[in-house]
Amino acid sequence: MNTDELRAFQREILGGIPADLPAAFPRSEDVSHAPVRKDILSPAEKELALRNALRYFPAETHAVLAPEFAQELREYGRIYMYRLRPSQPVKARPISAYPAKCDQAASIMLMIQNNLDPAVAQHPEELITYGGNGGVFQNWAQYRLTMQYLSQMTEEQTLAMYSGHPMGLFPSHKDAPRVVVTNGMVIPNYSKPDDWERMNAMGVSQYGQMTAGSYMYIGPQGIVHGTTITVLNAVRMNDKTGSGPAGKLFVTAGLGGMSGAQPKAGNIAGVVSVTAEVNSDAAHKRHEQGWVDHVIEDVEELVLQVRASVEAKEAVSYAYLGNVVDVWEAFDRAELFVDLGSDQTSLHNPWAGGYYPAGLSFEASNKMMASDPDAFADHVKESLRRHADAVNKHTARGTYFFDYGNAFLLEASRSGADIMNTDGTGFRYPSYVQDIMGPMCFDYGFGPFRWVCASGEAADLELTDRIACEVLEDLKKEAPAEIQQQMDDNIRWIKGAQANRLVVGSQARILYADALGRMKIAKAFNDAIAADRLAGPVILGRDHHDVSGTDSPFRETSNIYDGSAFTADMAVQNFAGDAFRGATWISLHNGGGVGWGEVVNGGFGMLIDGSADAERRLTSMLHWDVNNGIARRSWARNEGAEWAIQRAMDQEPLLKVTLPAHAADDVIAEALK
Ligand SMILES: NC(=O)c1ccc[n+]([C@@H]2O[C@H](COP(=O)([O-])OP(=O)(O)OC[C@H]3O[C@@H](n4cnc5c(N)ncnc54)[C@H](O)[C@@H]3O)[C@@H](O)[C@H]2O)c1
Repeated sequence: MNTDELRAFQREILGGIPADLPAAFPRSEDVSHAPVRKDILSPAEKELALRNALRYFPAETHAVLAPEFAQELREYGRIYMYRLRPSQPVKARPISAYPAKCDQAASIMLMIQNNLDPAVAQHPEELITYGGNGGVFQNWAQYRLTMQYLSQMTEEQTLAMYSGHPMGLFPSHKDAPRVVVTNGMVIPNYSKPDDWERMNAMGVSQYGQMTAGSYMYIGPQGIVHGTTITVLNAVRMNDKTGSGPAGKLFVTAGLGGMSGAQPKAGNIAGVVSVTAEVNSDAAHKRHEQGWVDHVIEDVEELVLQVRASVEAKEAVSYAYLGNVVDVWEAFDRAELFVDLGSDQTSLHNPWAGGYYPAGLSFEASNKMMASDPDAFADHVKESLRRHADAVNKHTARGTYFFDYGNAFLLEASRSGADIMNTDGTGFRYPSYVQDIMGPMCFDYGFGPFRWVCASGEAADLELTDRIACEVLEDLKKEAPAEIQQQMDDNIRWIKGAQANRLVVGSQARILYADALGRMKIAKAFNDAIAADRLAGPVILGRDHHDVSGTDSPFRETSNIYDGSAFTADMAVQNFAGDAFRGATWISLHNGGGVGWGEVVNGGFGMLIDGSADAERRLTSMLHWDVNNGIARRSWARNEGAEWAIQRAMDQEPLLKVTLPAHAADDVIAEALK
């Protein structure tokens, strides 16, 4: 970046909301835009929405802004304040480019910009990073004000973020988090999807998803690793004959923010995959990025190609440009055997563009969901019933179908689909956490640890990859049999990471690791920074989709069977515990993954700079950040977690966890006679 550009960029950040309004300019044609949100506000609430938006600006500008914002509300269902979009490119720059009084604040600016980079974000001009509605901010005034606060912040202050709104800088202390984020926290009885629509339209709450509103999204790579682990283990679990992945067929849907990782994971796992996608832009984007091998528009042609690939035992991925229901039905008619099936449409957001119903075009759906939301909802429900019927025909022939944490089973059941088990006590199919991620990863503490090289240099990422690999190989030598397979998969992943060219946006890496692995890798990075082997500091973080950060009964905690799956103590404890153990920023969200009101989840970011202080903080916080969840999983009597927490206590004498006693079945039966 030349000096003039850098100055202009810094000036804009320091200026916050400019006293002289920038000229209005139309929203861009060449980026994807969020669907028009439904017109839900009463006339009085519309007044409130406008008043709320205008409170960011001096009264003398209101005559210009009020009609403009009213028009946005009418046209898009939200006030995004497009006029306030920054004039300088939004992207992760090296940490030294940010005008800040402390590196911690600069690291947060870097991550915010990464989440809004048009190459990374799903609907960048509506400040949506992924998942259709995962917002970083609700409007551009909040973005500008937040960046300005961060540029002014010292290590004696903490910024309070209320659902994208920067409430302000408050005095705190050096050890406190620099930013505390909450997104979508509402009174529990007011947590239905329409409550979100209403509060978001009024500009008072937002859906932060997981890593969107917490500034920790690292592009589709973040999810490729987890998806690869899931697909790999689903294949292993269902490989009754021991023939391996070659020639196995995986059918699913979605080529969006996270779902776009599925074909790549399929290729890495060595299967034939078909991913349906109704949005032509999304399908072609993934094809151009090399995430999927072929795009096919005709379903009969798809049948022919897929059959040939299965017979040739190719590792290949197909995108079908159309509705996933049509794929399931066509493959049934053609009697094409599907080994594995799932779905990653955004059913956490079924009524506002997350799920496109069969029989209605993409364009017609987009119109109807805003103009006639009730009729659109009927189409969605009808499609989900058809969808489930088609899947059921395949599973009757032996397909292994699993819910991919997108609320497919939940919404299908609410739509009256034939998806419940025979005694009506639960769903007919498991979630991927119940069968795969929970017992194989989370219960042992393995989860989506990630880091970003704040220098922005590819060489730093390469070195951190090597360091992480060495640490894991060392740990593997001593690792007990219970976790050897996980260690092998993770070493294989990090060895192939450079060749798989996964970086989009910041120089970031994801690597599943357990508590010991995360602590040792982070300490090794800190040592490398201190020794000047790395050109800059490193930002640590994780996905919320992890061992401890998320209470989500239909996903992360779906393998908790002691009745506590609908409690959220673990996620809240995690957030608070990370805060006072040294996180640079922390976040707590309502919603994320399976939907508003269905989950509480949290995460953190931590800047490490090679100092002894950074070592103290990373050791203390990462230990808690994983072991909190293992302790809870162990208390729920999950076998792997009972083993893992005992191991953690053997390693750390200060850790003392309450362990469960197991009651024998006959004692219970006798007592309840
Ligand atoms: N990848 C993972 O590991 C993972 C883990 C847990 C949950 N999820 C869940 O998966 C869902 C998808 O996430 P995302 O970030 O990719 O969302 P997204 O909205 O970016 O992508 C979903 C895609 O599905 C397409 N789609 C919708 N209905 C369709 C239909 N009937 N047929 C074909 N395509 C259709 C949409 O056009 C969109 O591109 C979310 O609910 C998310 O929470 C993903």
